[in-house]
Amino acid sequence: MQSYLNASLKNVHTFSIEQTCDVLVEVTSVDELISVYQDPQWSALPKLMLGKGSNMLFTEHFSGLVIINRLSGIELTESSESYSLHVSGGEDWPSLVEWSVDHGLGGLENLAMIPGCSGSAPIQNIGAYGVELQDVCEYVDILCLDTYTVKRLSKDECLFGYRDSIFKHALYGKAIVVAIGLTLAKEWKPCNHYGPLKSLPLETLSPRSIFDEVCAIRSSKLPDPSVQGNAGSFFKNPVITKDHFDRLSALYPDIVGYESNDMIKVAAGWLIDQCQFKGVIEGGAQVHPNQALVIINHDEASAADILRLAARVRQAVLGKFDIPLEHEVRFMGQDSETNLDKALEAMA
Ligand code: FAD
Ligand code: EPU
Repeated sequence: MQSYLNASLKNVHTFSIEQTCDVLVEVTSVDELISVYQDPQWSALPKLMLGKGSNMLFTEHFSGLVIINRLSGIELTESSESYSLHVSGGEDWPSLVEWSVDHGLGGLENLAMIPGCSGSAPIQNIGAYGVELQDVCEYVDILCLDTYTVKRLSKDECLFGYRDSIFKHALYGKAIVVAIGLTLAKEWKPCNHYGPLKSLPLETLSPRSIFDEVCAIRSSKLPDPSVQGNAGSFFKNPVITKDHFDRLSALYPDIVGYESNDMIKVAAGWLIDQCQFKGVIEGGAQVHPNQALVIINHDEASAADILRLAARVRQAVLGKFDIPLEHEVRFMGQDSETNLDKALEAMA
């Protein structure tokens, strides 16, 4: 097992910001993972499990141990009705989706090109283009950090929601996802109701055609982190009451919102765009000129630049629409997870 002291985090998160941690290790097996947690030399250090760092902002030096997930292996089995995939947590998610489409398996195509590890996918129940992980997830295998045993959670036990799961709540800090189980029905049903997918010709719909279209849309809309550091949508799409939405609709007839359990989920990108933030720069950080929901590392941004820009965006949206934005990106501070308010305070 490799370990590195005072390691740079620049290449292990997609914002690619210069930041460091006390120790960085890479684990390739569950046994190695357990030995990291049990090693007395690291027992006092706060620990962070990291996949590809595509949903992370390190707000300052992390005085702890970053554990990079390299658990690998994919097993495919089938019944008369479905394919089952048992995927180790460190497997690259976008490669898995591409592999499934290449092998004629349908069900993952809408989730193409979402960066990250498969083991990170349940944490925020990744979603795109009308499909969420919960639609294909059968189970999640976790290492329980109190007993060091592996336990299987059913999909229902994961309490999936919009960018949410039990791993952000009751199991926060208590479990590491070591594998996921996916079930893909052999009788494939296309999911093509999300905006731009509706225009695909019905007669040619296939996992491949949806995969290709999703890849084309994403490539045109979202910045490639290897070119411009970013962590995807910086904020979640806020969910507001119908009353609030109706009041806003009267003032802004073009406002974009979707019904969501008696509430309305509003497009945060639209809200930020209306505040004229596209392209706005703060130090080395920039609101992406084409997709206002993404903040990019435009020019050697510091974490402080990103935080200041995020605060300006949040303030403007609150002022204009009376909607508080919540960041989707996870923030790691000096020794524990933090949030925008606390991180700004720590900077002051
Ligand atoms: P990391 O960023 O490494 O970790 C994220 C969080 O999960 C951290 O808190 C970490 O501690 C925790 N974690 C990671 N692995 C484990 C584990 N094994 N066990 C327990 N906790 C763990 N997301 C979407 O939902 N939909 C999108 O369409 C989408 N598009 C994106 C586009 C771009 C260009 C980028 C950069 C990001 C996008 N994202 C999207 C966000 C991101 O891809 C997902 O959140 C992804 O699941 C993160 O995976 P990761 O391995 O990089 O996780
Ligand atoms: N919009 C604007 N201006 C902008 C950006 C968006 O007006 O600058 C409008 C669009 O025109 C559209 C609406 O906002 O009418 C929604 O935009 P889009 O379809 O691009 O989706 P999104 O709400 O910005 C969400 C997810 C993405 C996911 C896409 C596709 C969240 C926070 N974001 O983005 O997920 O890929 O839908 O399903 O839910 C992520 O989580 O990191 C992520 C990229």
